[in-house]
Amino acid sequence: MSSGSRRRGNRADGDRGGPKLCPKYGRWHECKRFDHMIRPILVVLVILPLVAAAQTAKTGASACVPCHSQAKTQPHTSMGQALEAVEDCKVLIDRPVLAVTVGRYSYRIERKGNQSEYSVTDGVGTITAPIRWAMGASSSIGQTYILEKGGELYESRVSYYRELKELGPTMGSTTSAPANLNEALGRLMTVEDKLSCFGCHSTDAKSGRQLTLEKLKPGVQCDHCHESSESHLLAMIQFGDGAESAIPKSTAGGLAAEQVSDFCGQCHRTWAEIVMQPNLGIGNVRFQPYRLAGSKCYDPDDPRISCLACHDPHRELVAETKDYDSKCQACHGGGKPGAKPCRVAKSNCASCHMPKLELPGAHYKFSDHRIRIMKPNQRYPE
Ligand code: HEC
Ligand code: HEC
Ligand code: HEC
Ligand code: HEC
Ligand code: HEC
Ligand code: HEC
Ligand code: HEC
Repeated sequence: MSSGSRRRGNRADGDRGGPKLCPKYGRWHECKRFDHMIRPILVVLVILPLVAAAQTAKTGASACVPCHSQAKTQPHTSMGQALEAVEDCKVLIDRPVLAVTVGRYSYRIERKGNQSEYSVTDGVGTITAPIRWAMGASSSIGQTYILEKGGELYESRVSYYRELKELGPTMGSTTSAPANLNEALGRLMTVEDKLSCFGCHSTDAKSGRQLTLEKLKPGVQCDHCHESSESHLLAMIQFGDGAESAIPKSTAGGLAAEQVSDFCGQCHRTWAEIVMQPNLGIGNVRFQPYRLAGSKCYDPDDPRISCLACHDPHRELVAETKDYDSKCQACHGGGKPGAKPCRVAKSNCASCHMPKLELPGAHYKFSDHRIRIMKPNQRYPE
């Protein structure tokens, strides 16, 4: 790959807090020290009380609605709901009883009021534990439940899959059979697991390496991606529109592909992170920054092949492949030297060149972001 040297190390890592975006001088940058020194002081002294008054704890974004249309749509996206509190979990509300048998263990999830109870039995004994959270949006691929037992958190051994409309084994759990009923319930979450799962699926679940689950806001919210949105909110409330603000206008859509891949890759995984993994085979199809970087279309400096060229993180994924044609044509319609037109078809480009491939155990077909010409019986290119 010609652009290998440009792919800097994995500075974007959800586990370590990850980079955030600060608009400066009309461009998006990673936030620098300055913001971390000045703003926290402001936030603590004056801003937090006001912000608290302006925001409800659950939907911080409602405070941004009057001025930003993004705040109307983003909270309803799968990313915005990547974690759901049990009270609000649509799957569990709509399906008051879920049951499945895997090997010698039978599982049951039952709604009681606004809570849900998860139990497993081998016919002799039964263990029951309350569900605290659903990891994964109800509207999306599927969800794994986070149970609480004896003051510890467990990842459920069965998960809900939208395609099955039913429970099935949690991905990765089928490699070993549970030794006892306790193991059949789920996997004990280590501190590391909690930092990483909640770090990517929710906001404010950690501060550095410290877990702060009591402050957690479910889902990927504004301030997971935008630094200091609270102090900005204050400035806007205090000084109003047009006043001197720390946040200048951005030039939307101008970021180079590689910068965006690294930013989104703090959760969707970066190229550098995946290339270090032992052979994942088809297992890497879900890591879009890695797959895209391997495609012939990829140019690390070109914004037209960045995640943001095709996806708006404030809106739900566009599920109609035809709607992406203009994105391909931005280069293949004569806009980029070397990007030839297709001899086979004039529309629905992604349906042939970004094939949907089943990821075993996930009950979902991911769109392969390694854009390419498909040949019959072609091996999956890693
Ligand atoms: C009272 C109106 C108001 C409120 C409330 C407000 N903003 Fe803003 N915001 C602005 C203005 C004005 C700008 C300046 C850029 C512009 O003109 O679009 C801005 C800029 C931004 C930018 C940078 C956009 C750019 O073009 O550079 C982000 C990100 C942002 N706001 C996020 C938020 C978030 C998150 C919240 C809620 C916590 C919020 N804002 C609340 C008025 C507001
Ligand atoms: C803080 C972590 C995080 C960051 C940063 C992040 N994502 Fe996500 N994203 C997620 C999670 C978690 C999901 C899974 C939601 C689910 O299925 O429950 C997701 C899902 C998605 C989806 C699929 C939505 C659907 O309807 O299935 C798209 C598209 C997406 N992200 C694009 C992006 C883009 C583009 C960026 C960069 C601008 C980005 N994401 C940055 C965590 C993140
Ligand atoms: C580095 C960030 C990251 C970490 C850590 C992470 N996830 Fe995710 N998760 C994602 C993203 C991004 C998606 C969106 C689906 C995709 O494109 O792969 C997702 C999707 C999911 C889904 C939807 C179903 C599926 O398989 O896609 C479930 C369930 C899930 N994650 C559970 C978990 C659990 C449980 C943990 C901890 C053991 C965890 N995740 C850790 C980023 C992360
Ligand atoms: C998954 C990450 C992510 C989340 C969550 C997110 N944003 Fe953004 N936002 C971005 C990125 C990336 C850009 C830059 C877009 C670009 O340059 O094309 C952006 C740009 C913006 C802008 C400037 C738009 C423009 O045209 O310049 C505003 C305003 C904004 N976001 C508000 C919000 C608000 C309000 C929320 C919460 C309701 C939010 N964002 C949540 C990633 C995110
Ligand atoms: C040239 C356009 C294009 C670019 C660039 C692009 N995507 Fe996609 N993406 C698509 C299409 C097309 C789909 C499938 C939509 C559908 O049919 O549901 C998709 C689907 C997704 C999904 C949903 C899961 C799946 O595989 O179906 C996620 C998550 C995602 N993209 C993330 C990203 C991230 C992160 C980046 C940047 C590294 C990126 N995409 C860059 C076109 C693009
Ligand atoms: C940033 C510009 C750009 C965008 C956007 C882009 N491409 Fe490309 N694409 C190229 C270039 C340049 C080449 C030729 C690279 C070469 O031959 O080395 C290419 C090559 C291809 C090839 C031939 C690959 C092969 O295996 O030989 C296909 C097919 C293709 N693109 C389809 C698409 C589709 C479909 C989309 C939209 C989903 C798209 N491209 C978006 C620039 C782009
Ligand atoms: C019905 C499936 C299908 C659709 C839809 C489709 N293509 Fe293709 N495309 C192919 C096949 C098959 C080839 C290989 C043709 C060949 O080898 O002569 C190809 C070849 C290409 C090439 C390589 C051209 C070359 O001369 O090397 C590019 C670039 C490309 N397609 C882009 C696109 C774009 C952009 C679109 C949407 C406007 C698109 N394709 C729609 C099937 C499709």
